[in-house]
Amino acid sequence: MTWLITGGAGYIGAHVVRAMLDAGERAVVLDDLSTGIAERVPEGVPLVVGSTLDEALLGRLMRDRGVTGVVHLAAKKQVGESVDLPLHYYRENVEGLRTLLSAVTDAGVASFVFSSSAAVYGMPDVDLVTEETPCVPMSPYGETKLAGEWLVRATGRATGLSTASLRYFNVAGAATPELADTGVFNLVPMVFEKLTEGAPPRVFGADYPTPDGTCVRDYIHVVDLAEAHVATARRLREAPGTDLTLNIGRGEGVSVREMIDRINALTGHTLPPSVVDRRPGDPARVVASADRIASELGWKARYDVEDMIASAWAGWTRNHPAK
Ligand code: WQD
Repeated sequence: MTWLITGGAGYIGAHVVRAMLDAGERAVVLDDLSTGIAERVPEGVPLVVGSTLDEALLGRLMRDRGVTGVVHLAAKKQVGESVDLPLHYYRENVEGLRTLLSAVTDAGVASFVFSSSAAVYGMPDVDLVTEETPCVPMSPYGETKLAGEWLVRATGRATGLSTASLRYFNVAGAATPELADTGVFNLVPMVFEKLTEGAPPRVFGADYPTPDGTCVRDYIHVVDLAEAHVATARRLREAPGTDLTLNIGRGEGVSVREMIDRINALTGHTLPPSVVDRRPGDPARVVASADRIASELGWKARYDVEDMIASAWAGWTRNHPAK
C-alpha cells in the first residue's frame, strides 16, 4: 500500500513517515516546505513540493504514484497566529482539506487519516477528556480542526472512504536529534530557549485551580504518536467503512511546574522559573482518556516525560550548539 503523507517534511510528519516505512509501508510526501524541511524526508521517499490547495497536482500525484491511502498532516498549527489570521487558517486547514478530499474521492483512494487536535475541546471541564466530551474550540485553529473532522466524516459516510481523526494532545520529543522540532512555540522548546539564554524559564500563571496552581497537560512522545498512525492506518486498510475518532495522549497530567523541574533536573540547570501573567485562552487542565485507542487498536504509549525531554534536549543542543 502506498501512503501519501502530507506535511511529511514537518516535525510530526517526518516521524510518521519513518514509522510507516518501519512497518513496511511505501510512502510519498507532499509538503509546501513553508515550515517543513526537505532533509527530514528519508532517502528513497519521493518528496513532491506543493500545496494541498492544488487539485490538479493532487490528482496527478495520486494517479502517478498509485496512492491508496492518505495521512493528512499538512496544516497551520499556531493558536495565537490563527486569532490574527483566521482567513489564512480556514483556507489552509479547511479549504486545503476539502481540495484534498475531492482529489482522494476522485482517485478512489481507500483510507484517510486526519491530524486533529485536543484544541477541538477548548476548555474541557472534566478530569479526563474522552472522545464524547463536547467540542467547544476556543480559537480559529481549533475550529478549523473540528470543521475538518466533520468534513472527513461526512465524506466517509457519503463515499465509503475509511476515515480516522486523531486528536493529538501535547506532542514532544524526537526519534533522533535531526528530527527534533525546530519551532519554539510550545512549553518544552520555550523552556530550553530560556535556559540557553541563561534566563529563568517562564510559568504563564500559577493561580489556576490545579494542585500547584499551574496548567496541567498530557504530553505524548512523537514516536508514540507516529506509531498510533501506523496502528490506525492498518485498521483502516483491514476494515473498509471505518469511522474513528481517537484521542492520542497518555492519560497522565503533568503541570507546567513539574515539567520545568524535570527539564532542569535532566539538563543540569538550576534556575528556578519565574511566574509571569497568564497567557490568554489557556485552559487549566487538558488530559486525555486514552481508553478508546487502547481498546480499539491495542495502542498504548511506551515513552514517558523523561524520554520526551531527553530526546528533545538532544535535538535542541544539536540545533543550538554552545557558542
Ligand atoms: C503548555 C502549557 C502554557 C510556555 C498548544 C495548542 C494545542 C496543541 C499543542 C496543536 C500552557 C504553559 C508554555 C512557557 C508556560 N497544538 N507555558 N511557559 O497551549 O497546551 O497546546 O500546543 O495542535 O492545540 O493549544 O501547549 O506547549 O504552548 O503550553 O508556562 O514558556 O505551558 O501556558 O499551560 P498548549 P503549550
